[in-house]
Order: sequence, then structure tokens, then C-alpha cells
Amino acid sequence: MEEQEQILVLDFGSQYSQLIARRIRECHVYSQVLPYSTPVEKLRALKPKGIILSGGPCSVYEAGAPTVDPALFELGVPMLGICYGMQLMMQLLGGNVGPGTRREYGRAELRVTEAASPLFAEVPERSVMWMSHGDKVLAVPEGTRTIAVTDNTEYAAVAIEGRDLYGIQFHPEVVHSDHGKAVIRNFCLGICRCAGAWSMASFIETQTAAIRETVGDKHVILGLSGGVDSSVAAALIHKAIGKQLTCIFVDNGLLRKNEAARVQQLFADNFEMNLCFVDASERFLGKLAGVDEPEAKRKIIGHTFVDVFADAARSIPDVDFLAQGTTYPDVIESVPINGNPSAMIKSHHNVGGLPPDLKFRLLEPLSRLFKDEVREVGRLLGLPEDVVMRQPFPGPGLGVRCLGAVDKQKLDILREADDILVSEVKAAGYYYKTWQAFAVFLPVRSVGVMGDQRTYDYVIALRIVQSSDGMTADWVNLPDPLLRRISSRIVNEVRGVNRVVLDVTSKPPGTIEWE
Ligand code: XMP
Repeated sequence: MEEQEQILVLDFGSQYSQLIARRIRECHVYSQVLPYSTPVEKLRALKPKGIILSGGPCSVYEAGAPTVDPALFELGVPMLGICYGMQLMMQLLGGNVGPGTRREYGRAELRVTEAASPLFAEVPERSVMWMSHGDKVLAVPEGTRTIAVTDNTEYAAVAIEGRDLYGIQFHPEVVHSDHGKAVIRNFCLGICRCAGAWSMASFIETQTAAIRETVGDKHVILGLSGGVDSSVAAALIHKAIGKQLTCIFVDNGLLRKNEAARVQQLFADNFEMNLCFVDASERFLGKLAGVDEPEAKRKIIGHTFVDVFADAARSIPDVDFLAQGTTYPDVIESVPINGNPSAMIKSHHNVGGLPPDLKFRLLEPLSRLFKDEVREVGRLLGLPEDVVMRQPFPGPGLGVRCLGAVDKQKLDILREADDILVSEVKAAGYYYKTWQAFAVFLPVRSVGVMGDQRTYDYVIALRIVQSSDGMTADWVNLPDPLLRRISSRIVNEVRGVNRVVLDVTSKPPGTIEWE
């Protein structure tokens, strides 16, 4: 295989390190993030076209602050230090860094003072860039030129003459930096001279080769939920190793209408994957019977899933690897630096706590990708739009959307109502424009009248929200005629429901799910 041009990001504990890599990939250049402590020889062997030194939470002058072997700067490849990365570069090459008199967080106006610098091609003389620093460069090494300033920062951007070493105090990777993408593009294409021919198709090629090499002739299992991440991971691993992959799909009785059949048809029939289909709905519903406290329900669902999954895994001989569709936002892992908690954020695994007799190595081929990159991979692998653009669905499924104690009758009502809502929202073109649109079953009955008959039936709530990451959300005001159609179809078509209400609560103070 032809050697792939790449730019490495050395991670000093910034929460933005993967975002930098993503911005580089947006310039069609492959990028990976490595810990700052990666030996220089290893970096040299990777033959990077350039290296970016990330920001980080420490101060370069603190004892024990993360640092690099100064031989790094002798590699002869272009480098760009961002924030901490810049300060470290300046300090190691003979400059000086100290606490600034004024901390600078947020917007700052950058003034380019050397318009001819290749770092600022197509960047206007004045632009808004995002700053987040307390320390500042006080003195620069010999041969360093200032190429941009802000009101508060004399060395907002610097270049070391003749060496293709650049430092910037601002964060070009965040969306708030107006011309940040141009700065990264200038570094990758202009300064590092990358051709910019990389694409997600190349990602698939290198990942499938890497999966084949890692797995060898062993077997892999994967818990398939039907959601975007596990579906794309399944398709990618299947492309790499075919029948050495077995997907385990657990029907917990808390799935949406037709979900189990849909997954079977797509993965077992169309993709011809080994699919171990486990119908555990009775087991789940049996354990959930009579339990109405939300946390207790969640625990039961979680524990039962682990038990069912483990039983299924034991039934498959000679498994060495457990694959997961973990994506970068699930991990947001970073190098732990001096025990600084901001550098280690969260670690999340969908299938945690498997019994000790099941020892698998983890295979997580999507763990460096952002959601939209995962979707792009899925599309390229031939997954339908309906799968790659699927809205998030909670692990405990309808268990959290059917309030109070669940049983099959209530779940069936919810499934029918939800199916009407989702299909109407899809038909009206709102499915891909909203974060989530789903129905909630309320275990209260109220009086109604249908065809001269008094009814005493359940309530369905409609929850339709907009969000960018699920952390905050706002309710969506669908057009009246659409809401009317959804409401009247649910009441007319779903037996047991005589009232539909709309949730008009944002998050916070509400949550997206009701539970
Ligand atoms: P809340 O209800 O906390 O939900 O506002 C935020 C987002 O997370 C999803 N969610 C879950 N996803 N397992 C998941 O994989 C869960 O247990 C779970 N609970 C909530 C929810 O659908 C929303 O998008």
C-alpha cells in the first residue's frame, strides 16, 4: 500500500486534541493523535508531513509539566504549536513563558502583522479568533518573528525563520475562530505540502487492513443494537473479516416497532453477516414486572443485558475480540497529565462488567471518529440513509419511555403510537431536522368520548426536540396540521389511547427522556 501522508497531533491534555485531528481530516489529510510522550524515534518512523503540538491544562514552567525531547524540533518536519504547544516550543528553543497579567478567554481580535506568512494565506488582516490562556510567551527564541498580535498578546502568532516552526496562542480548531479552518488548511497544504487526497474511503481501506492484521484468524463478537455506531462498526469489521465476525442482537422486548425484523433483514439477509439473534424479551419483561422506579428499571435492564449477552457470547466458540462502536465523543479520553482531572474526562463502554470468565480484547475501530465521520463511513459501506441518520435511542429502550411498571400491553401501545409519530415526522421531512422525535407512554387514564362512547384510556406524550449533543435541548414546534394528523391518527389507530399531549419543556430544566 502506498505510504499515507499524515499529520500527527501530539496531545498535551487538551480537550480539543481530537478536534484538531478532525479539522486536519477535513482538509483531506489523515491525522492521528498521539500522547506527548511518544518517543521521537517513533514519530520519525511514522514519517509525518507535519506535527501539531496541542494545547493543555498545565503551565510549561510548572515542575513535572508535560514536555518533549527537544530533538523533536530537529526532525525537519513543519510544526505548529497551539497555545500550550506554542509556549512549550518557545521555552524549549530558548524563549521564556510566564503567567500573563491578564488571562484571556474567549473572543479576541487577531491582527495579522505579516500578511505574507503562508500560515495566514486568505486570512484577513483582522479576524476573530478564540483564546483560552492564562500564561503567555514573554520572550521568544532568536530568529523568531511575530506574525500576528492581539491587544493583549504580543506573540499571538510567531514563526521561526527558515525552520517551518510556527506557534499560535489562539485555537484555530474551535468553531468560534472565524478563519481557524484556513489557518489549519494553510499549515497542512501550504506549509506541510500535503496533497490533500485522503478521504473517508481511505480510512475504510486502512482500517480494514488494520483490523485484519490485529484479528488474524481469530473471532470477533459485536453487540449490535441497530443504532448508528454499532451498525457502522459491524459493517466495517464485516468488510475486513467477513464470517470471522458474529454480531449478537438482543431483543429485550423494549425495542421499537419492527426493529428486530429490520436489523435481521439488513445485516443477516442483505449483508450476509453471522447474526446471533437472541429473543430475550420474556426474560427482560419478567424481571421488570411490577418495577416502577426509574433507576431500578435501568439497573434491571442493564444487568439482564450483560447476562444475556454473556450467555450468547459463551455459545460462540473461540472468541478473542469484543468489538464496540465506541466513537470519539463516547471516549473523550486523553492522556492523564499530573492527575489533572480536566485531562481525563470520561470513559464509557456500552458493554461494561462482563463476567470474569469472558476475557476479550477490545476492538473499537471508530473510536477516533466524530459522529458525522462515522455516518460518512456507514454510507460508503452501503448502509441505508435510514440507518446512518438514525436518531439516538437510549440503551434501555422503551423501558425509559414507558413510565411506571412496564408490560407487553403498554409497550405495544407505545410502539404503535411511536411508529405513527416517527413515520409522520419522516414523511413531513422533519426526521433528519430534529435530534429526536418519539412517543412516551403515560400510565394515567383519563376520560374521553369516541363515537358516543365514553372512554377511559391512556395518554401518549409527544417529545420532539432539537439539540446538538443531547446535553441541552429545546422542544420543536411542528406545524399545526402535522401535529393534528399525528394526534388524530394515534387516537384513532391505537387502541387504549384517547389523549395525546405535547411536551413543551426544554432541557434544562427537563431531560429529553421522561423516564
Ligand atoms: P436525557 O434524558 O438525559 O438524555 O436528557 C440525553 C440523551 O441521551 C440519551 N439517553 C441514553 N442513551 N443510554 C443511551 O445510550 C441511556 O441509558 C440513555 N439515557 C438517555 C437520550 O435519548 C438523549 O438523546
